[in-house]
Amino acid sequence: MGHSIALVTGTTSGLGYAAAKLLAAEGCRQVIVTGRSLARVKESAAQLAAETKAQVFTPLELDLNAPTSVQSALAELVKRGRPVDFLLLNAGLVPFKKRALTAAGVEASQAPLIGHHQLTVGLLRANLLSPNARIVIAGAEPARGGVPLFSYTDLPAFAAKYHQGERTAAVEALIRNGPNVKYVPNNAYADAKLIIAWWVAALARRLPSGMAVYAVSPGGATDTKVVRSAGPALRYLMIPIVKLIPGMNQTPETAARRYIQASEFGTDVSGQFFASAKGKFSGPVEVQRQPHLHDRASQEAAWQAVVKVSGLDYSPARPASEETKCHH
Ligand SMILES: NC(=O)c1ccc[n+]([C@@H]2O[C@H](COP(=O)([O-])OP(=O)(O)OC[C@H]3O[C@@H](n4cnc5c(N)ncnc54)[C@H](OP(=O)(O)O)[C@@H]3O)[C@@H](O)[C@H]2O)c1
Repeated sequence: MGHSIALVTGTTSGLGYAAAKLLAAEGCRQVIVTGRSLARVKESAAQLAAETKAQVFTPLELDLNAPTSVQSALAELVKRGRPVDFLLLNAGLVPFKKRALTAAGVEASQAPLIGHHQLTVGLLRANLLSPNARIVIAGAEPARGGVPLFSYTDLPAFAAKYHQGERTAAVEALIRNGPNVKYVPNNAYADAKLIIAWWVAALARRLPSGMAVYAVSPGGATDTKVVRSAGPALRYLMIPIVKLIPGMNQTPETAARRYIQASEFGTDVSGQFFASAKGKFSGPVEVQRQPHLHDRASQEAAWQAVVKVSGLDYSPARPASEETKCHH
């Protein structure tokens, strides 16, 4: 990370804040920290500078729910003109008890992906990611299944039942939480993180060859604000239990370290989802191999749905075989 420029979303609390701190300690030349309001993110940047004694933090206003905010943030980055080496798309949330939609009609826990897609595609189009850039987006264990109180939607079955087998329309319904999607906050979260894992796989196929993207679950870190909006079963039942089981919970620093670790992964594992070992929420990360995560039709459907909802596409990079031909 030495001398590189990092951009971290959602740094006003929790893991984004912890990651920004770690990046400064790793020697980053600049850490762009983002938050929904400039006033709050300026406060975070000042607090980070005071804690680390490093003058590397640059605040940037970025509300991922608002396309106009993403556009302004991009315009500001274009003005600064310095390519980002490490793009850490950390912002996310376990959604509210009561269903909430953004002005663009996107369910609250799905909205960060739409904003992150707009930001990433905007940076790619403006040539503001360095040739060997690493992109990490926050995933979570519920995307692979087997987490009590959280379940993801069986997309092929849902598409077959309500969308004549059209998976892109089915993913769009999940992103918008309707039609035919029953609102269960924890399940909306599991679906949001599953769509992220699929989006990562599809983006990896489109990135220029030196770049790589991964979904990384930071693992359980209950001392953040992640469940501030969640219902009582999670807050007062599951989390206290998880805290009691040794090895199931980590400090925000340990969790954030997983993101930083992933910034060193190679292009060979681009597009993969890294999370705790089966049955765990902590410890080392490993590539997740559940078949639903690797279903290419679902990955491409997730990409197309995100393109449709966000209004932004990114053309595939040339296939590797074609590039080899050109070099000879
Ligand atoms: N903590 C865990 O146990 C755990 C486990 C697995 C995965 N994760 C993932 O890790 C990431 C960070 O979570 P955390 O635990 O650090 O939670 P947190 O303390 O609530 O921090 C989340 C950050 O994201 C920002 N954010 C959320 N939605 C946003 C939006 N639409 N636009 C702009 N900023 C937005 C928040 O800003 P505001 O303060 O303005 O809302 C906050 O800065 C999330 O993606 C979460 O899903 C966490």
